[in-house]
Amino acid sequence: MPETAALTNPLREGIRLRRTPDPCSMVIFGASGDLTRRKLIPALFYLSREGMLAPGFSVVGCARTPNTEEAFRREMAGAVKKFLQLTTESDAFVEAFGKTLHYVADDFGDPKAYAMLKGVLERLDQERGTSGNRLFYLATPPSFFPVIVQHLGGAGLAKPQVPGKTWTHIIIEKPFGQSLESARDLNRVVTGDFSENQIYRIDHYLGKETVQNLLVFRFANGVFEPFWNRRYIDHVQITVAEELGVENRGSYYEESGLLRDMIQNHVLQLLSLVAMEPPATFEATAVRDEKAKVLRSIRPMPASRVPDFVLRGQYSEGLVGGKKEIGYRSEPKVAPASNTETYAAVKLFIDNWRWADVPFYLRSGKRLPKRVSEISIQFRRVPHLLFRGSGAEGIEPNVISIRLQPNEGISLKFCAKLPGTSMQIRPVKMEFRYGESFGATPPTAYETLLLDCMLGDPTLFNRDDAVELSWEFVDPILERWKQDGGKGLAFYPAGSWGPPEADDFIERDGRQWQRL
Ligand code: BG6
Repeated sequence: MPETAALTNPLREGIRLRRTPDPCSMVIFGASGDLTRRKLIPALFYLSREGMLAPGFSVVGCARTPNTEEAFRREMAGAVKKFLQLTTESDAFVEAFGKTLHYVADDFGDPKAYAMLKGVLERLDQERGTSGNRLFYLATPPSFFPVIVQHLGGAGLAKPQVPGKTWTHIIIEKPFGQSLESARDLNRVVTGDFSENQIYRIDHYLGKETVQNLLVFRFANGVFEPFWNRRYIDHVQITVAEELGVENRGSYYEESGLLRDMIQNHVLQLLSLVAMEPPATFEATAVRDEKAKVLRSIRPMPASRVPDFVLRGQYSEGLVGGKKEIGYRSEPKVAPASNTETYAAVKLFIDNWRWADVPFYLRSGKRLPKRVSEISIQFRRVPHLLFRGSGAEGIEPNVISIRLQPNEGISLKFCAKLPGTSMQIRPVKMEFRYGESFGATPPTAYETLLLDCMLGDPTLFNRDDAVELSWEFVDPILERWKQDGGKGLAFYPAGSWGPPEADDFIERDGRQWQRL
């Protein structure tokens, strides 16, 4: 994100209209990890630079790696400059921001570390006026989540310090569990020490500007909602494609696979926003109730039907953007005969009045030709073609495409008459582009979500029921794949749009994937 965008950006003006959160200390568990460097610290830097954080705001980094406060500050300053591509004139900002950072080494299982943390937080309350407000961020590998939560509880850090006056919130990164059972276990552990209104289960897709705009598009415009249903819509496609492979995350990915990494959370969240009923208000309970209803209405997929409704693939060697890339099985920390999926296509139905018999096609994959996330709403064809012989037989149906990234925007494809004396028809596109209309880069998802959490607004976070319902859908698929081993795993060259079977998958229904 270019540095200059930050202070002159009308979209950022928008977030500035919000209340500034109370002063607080934010404790990041997993402070030496990638997420902290790439996303959390840069997001906090922007918020602080734009005056969105109270002056006393402080960060305490906790990690297993022994480190000094100075070294931690230096590393984070380096991360801010690198990931935000800052130039030297920002040094003063970076230095000022660095002073808000503190460090505590913690092996996560040692009660003494939490006692020390408590001491640091109390000192910050005194010295920086953080007033007892606390935000804990779990950015460690998920196996540490339960132990950290229990130790926070044991050290008396889970409850608000002065009930009714101060707040304590906890953000839990994904993955929230590995299965329905483990997600339930984790929910049980977390709610043992924190109450539901303190818990913020993060899915960064919900903080993306265009994802929020989906709700505005649907519910702030009178024109779309009347035909947002089975009478007019033929089917819906949701694509989240990435050019990247698994990078240095081979061991994580071997445990996870694409279905857990992308579909169970990000893609099903998008689905729930596309398909939900209008909530009565834009308030957390109302919105989250409607999203949960969608997930509850997804037609269950018994393990025996999985091959009919889900396709999995894995990338092999190929060319991405002209560059030769290795296959998944040759990636570091990946088993040479791994059956882990890096691509999945899912067809599902939502059994309710609005969506009965409308198929939703979801697909996501690594090492596809480009990074693009898009939701396409394809409408039914006209009931009768009167323009025969004008190229109309082959014309494509209307499509509303909501481009989540990159080049965020919305387009409507419709038919137009080709200029000339004869009646020739061609599809054309009417487009809205964020960049052109507002002339600026929106805040990152983490900026939005961190601010929301500090302001006590959980609307864009996942509630326990949503997480469990998503696992309920995904579990039988994982179970079936486990039984099948490598059977049914299709391969695709890196840089292609998934296995060739992906085309058959949708074409057998007489439909096609949108060209993106
Ligand atoms: C993360 C996944 O949740 O989302 C990654 O673990 C994926 O595998 C990433 O690359 C995609 O996020 P974005 O914001 O880059 O689309």
